Amino acid sequence: MGSKLHFQSIKHGPPLPHHDDIRAYKREYAAALDEKDPLRRFRAEFIIPSKKDLLRKNLSESEGDDQSDPRCIYLCGNSLGLQPRNIRKYIDQYLRSWAIKGVTGHFVSHEDALLPPYLHVDDAGSKLLAPIVGASPSEVALMGTLTGNLHILMSSFYRPTTERYKIILEGKAFPSDHYAVESQIRLHNLNPATAMVLIEPEDTERPILSTEQILKVIDDNASDTALVLLPGIQYYTGQYFDIPQITAHAHSKGILIGWDCAHAVGNVELKLHDWEVDFAAWCHYKYVNSGPGAMAGLFVHEKHGKVNGSSTNGEDDAYRPRLAGWWGHDKATRFQMDNNFVPQEGAAGYQISNPSVLDLSAVASSLEIFNQASMPALRQKSLQLTGYLEHLLLKYPLDNHADDRNKKLSFSIITPANPAERGAQLSILLQPGLLDKVLEILEENGVVIDERKPNVVRVAPAPLYNTFTDVWEFHRVFVMACREAVAARDG
Ligand SMILES: Cc1ncc(COP(=O)(O)O)c(C=O)c1O
Repeated sequence: MGSKLHFQSIKHGPPLPHHDDIRAYKREYAAALDEKDPLRRFRAEFIIPSKKDLLRKNLSESEGDDQSDPRCIYLCGNSLGLQPRNIRKYIDQYLRSWAIKGVTGHFVSHEDALLPPYLHVDDAGSKLLAPIVGASPSEVALMGTLTGNLHILMSSFYRPTTERYKIILEGKAFPSDHYAVESQIRLHNLNPATAMVLIEPEDTERPILSTEQILKVIDDNASDTALVLLPGIQYYTGQYFDIPQITAHAHSKGILIGWDCAHAVGNVELKLHDWEVDFAAWCHYKYVNSGPGAMAGLFVHEKHGKVNGSSTNGEDDAYRPRLAGWWGHDKATRFQMDNNFVPQEGAAGYQISNPSVLDLSAVASSLEIFNQASMPALRQKSLQLTGYLEHLLLKYPLDNHADDRNKKLSFSIITPANPAERGAQLSILLQPGLLDKVLEILEENGVVIDERKPNVVRVAPAPLYNTFTDVWEFHRVFVMACREAVAARDG
């Protein structure tokens, strides 16, 4: 059915329905796209909450996985990803090995184990993580939490001098990033009023930052800036920044640059090594589906991870000073306990504590699925899903998502229209006075998205588990919700 329809092929784009082909707006069209989706088997790897379970007031009645109940429309992977089914296998193995081996679980491997003994789970985690962010395994580490890791990295990469002491970040940065930068500046007895350079959007309703604007702020502060910290994808607008160009520009001015990839990891195809990013940090509870507050990840470019194999008491020129702990110590001599810190090469040398194997098992379970699917294939599907969502929102020909009185759309999309400048998320700005009613109707219909008050909803089809039919269903309910919200507002 779908194959008989016309397609417009656009660069990076989805197989968009031809504008005047009304069949393209039918559910069958979305179902036909799902049929042809080469990644469709991955949906079954996740537990999609049922509508009934979303309303449930107790946990014990159900395991939440009775497939006869209709599933919700979950488009909130930008906030909290869904649970991979194989997480139980990983966590059961962890519980079992701890139960039967106690401390010897650190060293003893099992023939059927998904992960190596506890002593080496960090290496296994790095191998799984590296292809997802375009790094070599020695450039990444699974550890800690996002904001904690930003502090750890900034304590090493932000070493202000009297000449270079500023940090450039966006004015609308995620609060935790803002606080982290501000507190780092204060820790060095500097004043955020002079040392913190905020890139402010020209349009506060649609706070997109052009690459030109970012480069200009870097130029204007080139001589006294020590560090730039930006998001790979902006949490509010969904804008995907030009990481390679901005990184190269910062470097050309002698400035280090770090990227917060919370909304980019598992979403777009990152090439952190090739782009020569100095450092990056991210969490794994959004697109990477590892559970609320899951263990985070960091990247340190190989040029910054070099060590010469000796202790750091002044003789190692290659070594970048950092906050150290025993897990960053060279594995071969870690247990000699001689209090001579010999760092591991690469990102592993930034580890501080021994990793929680429970937490790492959760992240590994999801990374295993990502590696099966591969980021290029996921990005390809993501471009199609998000393009389809945008197409339905903006081109739906029946015009019944318009405010009937003035025939104006009751919303606009603030995320960039260029698919290369966004990931899976579209941020929709509603007309004033509509948000509460729209959210109420979406919830009643089992649609899960998130909002940023006063007027924005963020909708994120995640290519691992979302379908074109999910997008179609969302659009159907959203159209109805907007219409009812306009009617309620205008009496
Ligand atoms: C861009 C960004 N930075 C920082 C954080 C804070 O993360 P955490 O609480 O894991 O440190 C988040 C959380 O969503 C985020 O989206």
